[in-house]
Amino acid sequence: IKLHIVTTDGDDLYAEADESQSVMEILRDKNIEEIRALCGGQLSCATCHVYVDPAYADRLPPMLAEEDDLLDSSDHRTPESRLSCQIFCVDALDGIKVTVAPSD
Ligand code: FES
Repeated sequence: IKLHIVTTDGDDLYAEADESQSVMEILRDKNIEEIRALCGGQLSCATCHVYVDPAYADRLPPMLAEEDDLLDSSDHRTPESRLSCQIFCVDALDGIKVTVAPSD
């Protein structure tokens, strides 16, 4: 699938991803500084925070309580916040636009 990434500087990047990959892995491969992904996708660090374009919100997997709690620890949470390690690149998300959240 194709991903549209917006950096914290407002730059647009584009990437191709396989179904087996998480959005976090794609962002990490792009060397996006804010995506430290310290826990490696184990849902325990919240350093993979992104804002998902609302047009894709209803195609995302539901948020687990752990993700919700971790996002609450961020000063930059918005209604569009998700942890990118919990978003897998399935076909329904082709073209998804994610904006990198600032680091806490
Ligand atoms: Fe740690 Fe996503 S990489 S919660």
